[in-house]
Amino acid sequence: MIARDKAAAGRQRSRQLNRQDARREQGPLRAMKRVTTIDDLRELHRRNTPRAFFDYVDRGSYAEETLRANRADFEHYKFRQKILVDVDARSTATTILGEPAAAPLILAPVGLTGMQWGDGEIHACRAAQKMGVPFTLSTMSICSLEDVAAHVDKPFWFQLYVMRDRGFVKALIERAIAVKCSALVLTVDLQVIGQRHQDIKNGMTVPPELRLKNLIDIALRPAWIASVMRGKRRTFGNLMGHLKGVDSVKSLSQWTNSQFDPTLSWKDVDWIRSIWPGKLIIKGILEEGDAGMAIKTGADAIVVSNHGGRQLDGAPSAISMLARIAQAVGGDTELMFDSGIRSGQDVMRALALGAKSCMIGRAYIYGLGAAGEAGVAKAIDIISKELLTTMGLCGVNRVSDIGPQVLMDM
Ligand SMILES: Cc1cc2nc3c(=O)[nH]c(=O)nc-3n(C[C@H](O)[C@H](O)[C@H](O)COP(=O)(O)O)c2cc1C
Repeated sequence: MIARDKAAAGRQRSRQLNRQDARREQGPLRAMKRVTTIDDLRELHRRNTPRAFFDYVDRGSYAEETLRANRADFEHYKFRQKILVDVDARSTATTILGEPAAAPLILAPVGLTGMQWGDGEIHACRAAQKMGVPFTLSTMSICSLEDVAAHVDKPFWFQLYVMRDRGFVKALIERAIAVKCSALVLTVDLQVIGQRHQDIKNGMTVPPELRLKNLIDIALRPAWIASVMRGKRRTFGNLMGHLKGVDSVKSLSQWTNSQFDPTLSWKDVDWIRSIWPGKLIIKGILEEGDAGMAIKTGADAIVVSNHGGRQLDGAPSAISMLARIAQAVGGDTELMFDSGIRSGQDVMRALALGAKSCMIGRAYIYGLGAAGEAGVAKAIDIISKELLTTMGLCGVNRVSDIGPQVLMDM
C-alpha cells in the first residue's frame, strides 16, 4: 500500500473509532435523562464500572459502622417547615474562602478518579468550574497537577498527603504553587491507613490485579475500557516520573505503601504553613480539641470529616459531631463539612448545624462513573436544586440565613 493510501486508511479507522466512541457515550447520556437522584447515578456507575473500582469508591473501612452512621444520622435532624414567606428570590449562591460560588459545595479530593472514567480529574474539574464550585485534586490522582492545569481555565485546589519523604512533599507544594492552585487542603486523618476488606477481596490495585474474575468483569464493561484507554494515564500522575529510582508501577506501589507517615504531628502542619503562601484548609477533624489546635496553626478553614467512613471505624458520624465543633470554633475559622452527603437536604442540615460549605466525595464520583463530565455536572445540579427547594420550604432566601432555626428542636 502506498503511503497516501495508508494515511487515508488510518484516517478512516480513526473516524470509525470516533463514531464507536460517540455511540458508546450515547448510552450513558441517554440513561442520564431518567436520573433524578444521586442514588440513580450510583446505580449507573455500578453498572458501567468493574466491580473492584466501584467498590473502592462505595465501601468503607472494617465493619463499616461509621460509613453507615454517616448516612443514617442525617435523618435525626428534621426540618421546621415555614409557610407564607416570599421565597421567590432565593439563591444557593455564597462565598467559599472569600470567592463567589454558585452553591455551598466543593468537590472533595478523591484518589484514582481517573480510573473511574478516563482523565476523570480533568472532566470533574471542568464540570465543577462550569457549575461554579471549587474542585480539589488529590495527591493520589491519576491526572497530575500539570495535566489538570493544562485543561481548565481557572485555579483549582490541591490536597496534600504528607509523605515520609519531606523533600518530595516540598516539591509537590512547589508544583501546586507553580500551577497556581488557589488553596491547599491538608488531610490529617490518614497517617495510618484503615483497611477496606472489600479492596483486598477484589484484588484492588493500580493497575488491577490480573485475576481471571477481574479480567472477565473488565471485559464486560466496554464503555469503561474505551474511556480509560483514551485517558492519558493509568497510574498516579503526581508521583510517577517525579521520584528517583521509581520507574515501574510495581516500584511506585511499593514506594506509596511505605510513605504514609505515622510520625505526622502539629509541627509538620506549622512547617507546611510556613512554605505554602496561600489559603490552608485542614481536613479530617472530628473533635473539638483538634479543631482548636488547627485554628492555632493559622488554618483558613477546617473540614469536619471522618474521610467518608474509610478510616477510623467506630468513630461517630461526622454530622453528629458538627454542632459541637461549630460551637467550639465560633467564628475563628471557616467551617466546612463532609462525609455522607448525598442530597441538598443533607447540605441544608450541615449548614444549619454550623458549616459554611460542604465537600462531596462519592456523590460526584457516582456521576463521573455514570457519564463523565455530564454526570458530575448532573450530581452538582441535583444537590443544588434540592437545596434550593428545601430552602424555599423552610422559608429561607439566602445561604447565609440558614441556621439552627430551620431544624426542629432536638
Ligand atoms: C474513593 C475515595 C477516595 C478518596 N481519596 C481521598 C484522597 O485521596 N484524599 C483525601 O483527602 N480524601 C480522600 N477521600 C475522602 C473524601 O475527600 C471525602 O472526605 C469523603 O469522600 C466524604 O464522604 P462522602 O464520600 O460520603 O461524601 C476519598 C474518598 C473516596 C470515596
